[in-house]
Amino acid sequence: MSRMISSGSSLNRRSLLLGTAGLVTAASAFRFPTPAIAQGAPLKVGFMLPYSGTFAKLGKFIDDGFRLYVEQQGGALGGRRIEFVQVDDESKPETATDNMNRLVGREKVDVVVGTVHSGVAMAMVKVARDTNTMLVIPNAGVNEATGPMCAPNIFRTSFSNWQVCEPMGKVMFDAGHRKVATITWRYAAGQQMVGAFGEGFKKVGGTVIEDLALPFPEVEFQALITRIATLKPDAVFAFFAGGGAVKFVKDYAAAGLNKAIPLYGAGFLTDGTIPAQGESANGLRTTLHYADDLDNPANRKFLADFKAKSGADGDIYAVQGYDAGALLHEGLKAVKGDWSARNDVVRSMRAARIDSPRGPLSFNAAGNPIQNIYLREVRNGRNELVSIAGQAVNDPARGCRVS
Ligand code: PHB
Repeated sequence: MSRMISSGSSLNRRSLLLGTAGLVTAASAFRFPTPAIAQGAPLKVGFMLPYSGTFAKLGKFIDDGFRLYVEQQGGALGGRRIEFVQVDDESKPETATDNMNRLVGREKVDVVVGTVHSGVAMAMVKVARDTNTMLVIPNAGVNEATGPMCAPNIFRTSFSNWQVCEPMGKVMFDAGHRKVATITWRYAAGQQMVGAFGEGFKKVGGTVIEDLALPFPEVEFQALITRIATLKPDAVFAFFAGGGAVKFVKDYAAAGLNKAIPLYGAGFLTDGTIPAQGESANGLRTTLHYADDLDNPANRKFLADFKAKSGADGDIYAVQGYDAGALLHEGLKAVKGDWSARNDVVRSMRAARIDSPRGPLSFNAAGNPIQNIYLREVRNGRNELVSIAGQAVNDPARGCRVS
């Protein structure tokens, strides 16, 4: 069962504590979010993230990254103090609509920040559109969120599934691979990522010989690894993340395939996972909108401050959370914290140019980031920059009608 957490305490569905404002009742559920919070009262940010399950670490790092950004600004953005509530979405699409409605209707958050899982994000996007709630997506790459489902109140500080994987087609072709197999979880993110890789690979003359998949979030990879050994492709392209990525990379190496059939992937395969993957991750090449050793002042500061705050090495999830804070800051700065001027907030957020740890970050009309996609290789226990696979890559926002 999903949990609502406020100020660190775990609460059940029927007794939700609302930060500083006391107990909320079910009567207020499904109402339009109240913008009438007096100026000076905190702006309420609802984190809807996975705090349990295979993506638990990803959710925590997004949360930590966002809070770090706000702390760096002294706890206020544009002069407006920020208050948080959290809900554990458990990466379960089936409870996503209820969870989102609780944040919007009962908790009356001003902004929702979430989530990791593409299927959960789709349900969130629908509620955000219906209620005109501001939604900042700090990970989930589902193409539709900034495609046919785009809306002025929907932003993404992460990537689209297309964006991070299409450039890998040329990278793998240039490395001499002609026949490639793909493997992923059978859900929106996996299917869109391998689809985008295939699009890029076929465009330059490559052939995808088989797409392998298993249900999310299963980690019994053995049968599919055996199938790869039988197929003998030139290389494999994979999307897994979090706990699933740790196990897949270890199983692939344990089967001896890493020596015979090079493994590539979307960068999530090795982001935030290398300490647990150990040697099995060495040499893996992936594409992503971040590399650990990007040598820019914003990244150096982010990594040092994140380590000081959490004791852990920052990764892409922490960067995406951090940049969600930075994006909201752009909006609140423009109106000096006055949320009732929300149209101006939205306009400033769409026009934002952020000096991100990932490099220059701006947004297209659909609210998706325009950003570099890097080729990285696992060396020295981190994802080191090899080259820029795509400069200022802009998602085509297929089907988006917002301009
Ligand atoms: C997604 O479901 O969109 C997703 C999940 C985990 C990742 C990346 C994308 O690391």
